[in-house]
Amino acid sequence: MTKYFKATVLENTALNKHFRLLTIDAGRSTLNAQRMPSPGQFYMLHSSDTYDPLLKRPFSILKCEDNTLKFLYRVRGKGTSCLSNLRKGDIIEVIGPLGNSYPEPDGDFIAVAGGVGIASLLSLLEKRKNTGYLFYGARSKNELVMLSEVEALAKEVFVATDDGSEGKKGLITELLIDFLNSTQPPPFPPLLKGGEGGLPIYACGPKPMLKKLSKIARESGIKCYVSLEEHMACGIGACLGCVVRTASGYRRVCKEGPVFDIKDIVWNNGTRE
Ligand SMILES: Cc1cc2nc3c(=O)[nH]c(=O)nc-3n(C[C@H](O)[C@H](O)[C@H](O)COP(=O)(O)OP(=O)(O)OC[C@H]3O[C@@H](n4cnc5c(N)ncnc54)[C@H](O)[C@@H]3O)c2cc1C
Ligand code: FES
Repeated sequence: MTKYFKATVLENTALNKHFRLLTIDAGRSTLNAQRMPSPGQFYMLHSSDTYDPLLKRPFSILKCEDNTLKFLYRVRGKGTSCLSNLRKGDIIEVIGPLGNSYPEPDGDFIAVAGGVGIASLLSLLEKRKNTGYLFYGARSKNELVMLSEVEALAKEVFVATDDGSEGKKGLITELLIDFLNSTQPPPFPPLLKGGEGGLPIYACGPKPMLKKLSKIARESGIKCYVSLEEHMACGIGACLGCVVRTASGYRRVCKEGPVFDIKDIVWNNGTRE
């Protein structure tokens, strides 16, 4: 069954200078039971009637309600600039849902979002309402988008910004380590001292954050799933433009991913940390 369809733009709202929320009407027949997206999956969107840019761009599903799909995006280059120009009633080309999804947590879990990585995790927090401890990091307060929405969905939210304009000043992974090591109250055994178990971690964000998480997961023995945001060309497994190195060989992020067990990823320096 083809996953290609055309949708109508319902809203394309600016949340601030960098971030926008796109809502499209996908139509009832498109969002039938087999095509309902799961948290972690993504869609390829093409915003333009022209061939510039030629390629669709990948975006995580933020929300799916009735016939509508919502996406949160950061304006970066040509593709996202074209998206930002879409107006109500415009037609957009879409392929999806694509890729695998986050394995569903059994109980409580930890979500770690860096910047626009929150787009990938929000639907998991929504599906598993009040069971996720969210660690949300961004460059500054202005870039902590949808904070009030996730505060209503998560069991607890911890925030860090690079400039200290909201939450703790510093990296979100530092807050996570404090949390994992804390015993007041003790939600966890002292995991960083070693041992299996603990709440699973689900993460999406910039590579430096994921690399730090990889080390935390390895040292603590905590299961950690990451959604990787590689550049993509086709999005459907045909071009090999999105491959990443894993312990068992090269894998396509658009097909075998975007969600991987972090311990399988071979980072650029050739290690799995
Ligand atoms: C599975 C998946 C899900 C994604 N979900 C979202 C989402 O929900 N919201 C969102 O805003 N973005 C998301 N992205 C990233 C998004 O696809 C890119 O930001 C987008 O393709 C950029 O297109 P562009 O033409 O505007 O920028 P380009 O002109 O292609 O690039 C502009 C700048 O952005 C950088 N860039 C481009 N793509 C990426 C990327 N994947 N990661 C980091 N930097 C990049 C480039 O290196 C360049 O510096 C996702 C990516 C993947 C693979
Ligand atoms: S983007 Fe073409 S194979 Fe993944």
